[in-house]
Amino acid sequence: MNFKEKILVLDFGSQYTQLIARRVREQKVYSEILPYNVTIDRIKEFAPKGIILSGGPSSVYDKEAPLPDKEIFNLGIPVLGICYGMQLMAYMLGGKVAKAAKREYGRAELMIDDDSDLLKGIGSRVKSQELRVKKLQISTPKLKTVVWMSHGDKIVKQPKGFMPIAHTSNSPVAAMADKNRKFFALQFHPEVAHTDNGTKILKNFVFNICKCKPEWTMQSFIETTTREIKEKVGKDKVVCAISGGVDSAVTAVLINRAIGKQLTCIFVDNGVLRKGEADKVESMLKKHFRMNIICIDASGRFLGKLKGVTDPEKKRKIIGNEFIHVFQEEAKKIKDAKYLAQGTLYPDIIESTSFKGPSATIKSHHNVGGLLKNMRLKLVEPLRELFKDEVRVLGRELGMPDEIISRHPFPGPGLAIRIIDEVTQQRADILRKADAIVLEEIKTAGLYKEIWQAFAVLLPIRTVGVMGDERTYENVVAIRAVKSVDGMTADWARLPYEVLGIISNRIINEVKGINRVVFDISSKPPSTIEWE
Ligand code: XMP
Repeated sequence: MNFKEKILVLDFGSQYTQLIARRVREQKVYSEILPYNVTIDRIKEFAPKGIILSGGPSSVYDKEAPLPDKEIFNLGIPVLGICYGMQLMAYMLGGKVAKAAKREYGRAELMIDDDSDLLKGIGSRVKSQELRVKKLQISTPKLKTVVWMSHGDKIVKQPKGFMPIAHTSNSPVAAMADKNRKFFALQFHPEVAHTDNGTKILKNFVFNICKCKPEWTMQSFIETTTREIKEKVGKDKVVCAISGGVDSAVTAVLINRAIGKQLTCIFVDNGVLRKGEADKVESMLKKHFRMNIICIDASGRFLGKLKGVTDPEKKRKIIGNEFIHVFQEEAKKIKDAKYLAQGTLYPDIIESTSFKGPSATIKSHHNVGGLLKNMRLKLVEPLRELFKDEVRVLGRELGMPDEIISRHPFPGPGLAIRIIDEVTQQRADILRKADAIVLEEIKTAGLYKEIWQAFAVLLPIRTVGVMGDERTYENVVAIRAVKSVDGMTADWARLPYEVLGIISNRIINEVKGINRVVFDISSKPPSTIEWE
């Protein structure tokens, strides 16, 4: 990415590393994460205006403690160490770190001893009776603020050239600075929301100390990326698999902006899509953006392969494999296609390059994962530097309709994993109708945006009912609605009874084959969001 104003975050394994990069980007300064042991040449090539050393679970005295190349302290650029990053600065620059008598975890009151540079403009006045006697020779604190701590080691002696700039009752050096070399360190986490003024501290580092200019805007990202795509692709052709999800749609619209008709999108109807899905995507890309899009109705092929299959993982495999076959067949028809566009996001990249290795919590749900081996296509991944929320901002800047940008996630295997037991055309049609009613009513009630996912599940259970004077013996539909931040954990949404009542009433009356509706009140864990 060709931006001059950049901050590098070195990752020492903190769960907040990504948050640091995001906080910096929120200030319109581009920030990237690299593993702690990246070579000094790579850092020089990246040319950051400042380096942030993240926290991490290790202790600097561990045998295997992750340490960066010491040369980072000779580059002449500002460095900010956070938590483990601070201890490691102390350790590597000649200070002393020891096990804290008491682990400090959670909220702490920070007494500010020097409110210039990094802590400028932070904190509120300390009342005289609150002043504590301090062992260190530092000026009387006049300001305090609330910070969020999480550490087991602490600095007992700051390295030469450093001065403590803040303390807590438990840490005599909760923040320190070597103003000459522009090295700063914090025992607490400025990136988390629980630290009051945390953003202000990061802003002080980025703008006042590193002298960055806020140039990282979505508009500048669009300009740079379209130029880069043009240069990379030249006159060659690109194919892109469209799933109906946000990432692939934004990828396609961005590439289209760069190379227009050299891009062909392929949308595969696998027979287990939501109602009207294919039409919606086609009309957006074709009519709104005038893009080349091929829509393949392969529902017969998919449903044929799914015949008699009840095991959820088998369903996933069949749909994934069949998708690859259909896509390849279509892509082959596009002469001179040299590139495959993918909506890979930044968290996917970090997870696979981080020193921790791929995280166990991330699922490999990518439908196009297996495509490359056979196709010999080169990759174009224009979103590989973006976080999910940035992709949404980008989509809006590109003029994409909100309906696509803020839609709920939808799994690659689609309704197939919401039809418990065998998937048939008739069952898919029943579920499609019920699902559409759930979404319609949730939107009408104004609840769509506050819910992570809402959908219907078709159960292979038949129950007795009565309609008019007739006894019925038909299937049950379960309603699932969850709130979540990332899909990793989720709680069931407390849908108002009125909304549930309308959904139930409409499904039973309008969807032939359903005579009972139930509501799923399980959280994840121990349940999962999908039923299969
Ligand atoms: P679970 O059911 O594991 O779902 O709690 C977490 C999130 O992942 C989605 N999901 C999938 N997405 N292919 C996908 O593309 C899959 O096989 C798949 N399984 C679950 C699910 O919709 C939720 O957002």
